Amino acid sequence: MKISGFRWAVFAFCILSIPDMQAAEMLQSGLNPDPVKLRLPKEASLSAVARLGRTLFFETRLSSSGKLACASCHKPDHAYGPSGKGSVMAGGPALRGYGIRAVPSLRYLYRQPAFSIGPYDSGDNDSPPSLEAQASQAMNHARLPKSAGKPDESAGNLVPRGGLFWDGRADTLQQQASGPLFNPDEMDAGSPATVAEKIRKFDYAKRFKLLFGPNIFEDPKQVVAEAMFAISRFQIEDKSFHPFSSKYDAWLEGKARFTPAETRGYLAFNDPERGNCGACHLSRPTRDGLPPLFTDFQYEALGLPRNPAIPANHDPQFHDMGICGPVRTDMKKENRYCGMFRTPSLRNVAVRRVFFHNGIFHSLKDALDWYVDRDLHPERFYPRDESGKVEKFDDLPEEFRTNVDRSDAPFNRHPGDRPSLNREEMKDIISFLNTLTDGYRERSGQQPMRAP
Ligand code: HEC
Ligand code: HEC
Repeated sequence: MKISGFRWAVFAFCILSIPDMQAAEMLQSGLNPDPVKLRLPKEASLSAVARLGRTLFFETRLSSSGKLACASCHKPDHAYGPSGKGSVMAGGPALRGYGIRAVPSLRYLYRQPAFSIGPYDSGDNDSPPSLEAQASQAMNHARLPKSAGKPDESAGNLVPRGGLFWDGRADTLQQQASGPLFNPDEMDAGSPATVAEKIRKFDYAKRFKLLFGPNIFEDPKQVVAEAMFAISRFQIEDKSFHPFSSKYDAWLEGKARFTPAETRGYLAFNDPERGNCGACHLSRPTRDGLPPLFTDFQYEALGLPRNPAIPANHDPQFHDMGICGPVRTDMKKENRYCGMFRTPSLRNVAVRRVFFHNGIFHSLKDALDWYVDRDLHPERFYPRDESGKVEKFDDLPEEFRTNVDRSDAPFNRHPGDRPSLNREEMKDIISFLNTLTDGYRERSGQQPMRAP
């Protein structure tokens, strides 16, 4: 009997797709069809410098109010993020000064690359071109769209990436820490001399002498530098800053099973035709097994609504434009980066009650609503001008509103289009985001799960 070409095709199709079918079935039943062994940061006991850093992280006496420590805003039991609903935190001498940005989590910054435009390797040997040179080179490059199906493709885009803070203005944790310490609206610690003088009188001043030399207190600037170095070592060495103990991490290793809602959420999150969230909030381990951080480290202008709860915004002339200032000052002339902020990690996002750089939303539901309806029903989020026209992207001066991302899904919609996610899918994504909360492994005792 002759086997027809068609039958061969059917036969070949079945053989080829059996693994795929099994994978799909496993996924449907909540299991990871492709488990990996995650490469986690090495565990070791804290160095003496990091232990000093831990003490300093909780030290309130350096602040002018005597009430603020790093830990007051970056709460250890809230993934080192804020515990409350306030868009910005109070600081300064009488705790009446206010910052202009939401407090980020300090978890998972250990792989944060230095700020650059394009995927430059900040390797120690070759010095990268100046930021100005990088920016002008980037002008002539087309930006590839971002798709959760192929996140690697946009990894090579010549766009701003890396750095610390919402605008990337610091490159290292040590460089960063003196910012809040001396910021008059935060810890307001005064001058290096004041700080050094206070530390000299603390009961643990002898630890400074032991670690940094008996004459350390003769150089106040050096005292501050070493204190910041110690705080950065604490953040780098202490496991609580990168525990990777979420249900999702366990799932990635084949040691946990998603609920049906979590599975549906995972799929919608990574589907380029629906959430497309995974295009920027990378959800897959790297090829060499590093766990995903749910950020591609890149910057985007998403055009969030202006937040009237931020006191600085009472001045209509004030605009927080991220990379191009006013907090950051070295990229003022780069108009096309105005409005861009760094893509934050979504790990532990479910323990937050303040979302986005200006803290405009207070629940994941509201954040998702905005993602889905920004372009379909902008009137839900933006005010109307005198003529009654909805003023989209009202937190940016008009000339920079064209910087806002309108090409990457779900931001490529127009009024009347089908929403990128329906209500059920939005709920499912929130269920999935809840699997990114650390502490699951400790709770569950990491029971291995077997396929049914
Ligand atoms: C009054 C609240 C407050 C205090 C106190 C505070 N911070 Fe922050 N922290 C913030 C805010 C707000 C930001 C975001 C600021 C920005 O992006 O411009 C931030 C950002 C950071 C970042 C960057 C995180 C990222 O995702 O890039 C680090 C690291 C950090 N703080 C560490 C510290 C350390 C260390 C201390 C103590 C020396 C400290 N903070 C004290 C509010 C605070
Ligand atoms: C084009 C890239 C991109 C896509 C696609 C994207 N995001 Fe984001 N996301 C960002 C950036 C950039 C920010 C920060 C913007 C800001 O604050 O100005 C952000 C912030 C967030 C925040 C706030 C986190 C925090 O700590 O404040 C949440 C929640 C979030 N995204 C969830 C999602 C979900 C869910 C999806 C899919 C529906 C999604 N994102 C799709 C880039 C993206």
